[in-house]
Amino acid sequence: MLEALKAQPQDKILQLIQMFKDDPRTDKIDLGVGVYKDATGLTPVMRAVKAAEKKIWETQDTKTYTALTGEPGYNTAMRKLILAGSVDGARLSSIATPGGTGAVRLGIDLAKMANPGATVWVSKPTWGNHISIIKFVGLPVAEYRYFDAAAGEVDFAAVLEDLGRVKAGDVVLLHGCCHNPTGANLTLEQWKQVIALLKDRGAFPMVDLAYQGFGDGLDQDAEATRLIASSFPEVLIAASCSKNFGVYRDRAGILISISADAEQAKIAQGNLNFLNRQTYSFPPDHGTRTVMTVLEDASLEADWKAELEETRNGMLSLRAQLAEELRRATNSDRFDFVARHRGMFSLLGLTEAQVTRLRDEFGIYMVSDSRINIAGLNKATVPVLAKAVAAVL
Ligand code: LMR
Repeated sequence: MLEALKAQPQDKILQLIQMFKDDPRTDKIDLGVGVYKDATGLTPVMRAVKAAEKKIWETQDTKTYTALTGEPGYNTAMRKLILAGSVDGARLSSIATPGGTGAVRLGIDLAKMANPGATVWVSKPTWGNHISIIKFVGLPVAEYRYFDAAAGEVDFAAVLEDLGRVKAGDVVLLHGCCHNPTGANLTLEQWKQVIALLKDRGAFPMVDLAYQGFGDGLDQDAEATRLIASSFPEVLIAASCSKNFGVYRDRAGILISISADAEQAKIAQGNLNFLNRQTYSFPPDHGTRTVMTVLEDASLEADWKAELEETRNGMLSLRAQLAEELRRATNSDRFDFVARHRGMFSLLGLTEAQVTRLRDEFGIYMVSDSRINIAGLNKATVPVLAKAVAAVL
């Protein structure tokens, strides 16, 4: 039977991890997978996370199952972190999921259960796994143009034009902040226009919020999500703790659904529980419990926020430095957008051949669409990248 299986296409981002590992050059630079790294190249365990894990180790006296939703306190704390009371709590349902990807997957599953005729709209470009998951679940994918590669900015006229073709009941997947892969984001004014348009079309918004705290700050990065949440009767939110808590391998995420009223929210909750049960029964606990422990303890929370701010500001200064070095190296303002982008990523707008040259000749690894992970740089490697980019132009 298994001989009937066909080889699967490799995930472009994950493939890079192996290629980078296999490269013997000692001065190679990894700007591939979206993992935060400090100036020494380390992905640190955050201080508050370490302290929370200690607290858990000292106090935990059982590892019996918790709830199908995951630990209730985790759900409460995450709803607050993301939505900050912008929606009546009675309209909310949620489950802990293994990472943000788990939330995206189950969110698309739920959308299909609710409306098997839905098309799922994604930005062009988007995170490659979005498209892969939607197709695997069996819903049709449509793309709305998003990025003006020459300007390095959102092509807002194209966004409005394409979203104007959404049909009632279609799912529209939106990046809550720190757009992956482009790094270009809508302004609040633009979000308001998108919301008005999608309401007019009868669309069902689904927000992917994987980088809260990596752009302009924890609250600022949730602003669009909160606006969407309070504007529509029904919304799905898939969020990740991988990046902002640095708990990548522990797989902590959440899927929140907003229903029209409390009665429907109960049914939605039952469906979310069902999805967890069908997929893996209980969601993993360690990462979510760690996050909950941080968020429920005022001093751990304050320390987490402080370290997250250091992380965010570090990426912002790397952005400023890179824009400056690229200006110098290319003798043009072509790459000034790097300083305006937010989050871990920027799409440089290079050709695949140029990306390949950067890898082969300079040992600089980025995704083939020319997405770079800003956090893969440090003060010393920024000029190296800028000179290499100028050399392959
Ligand atoms: C990325 O876009 O690099 C991250 O979200 C990691 C991943 O799983 O692809």
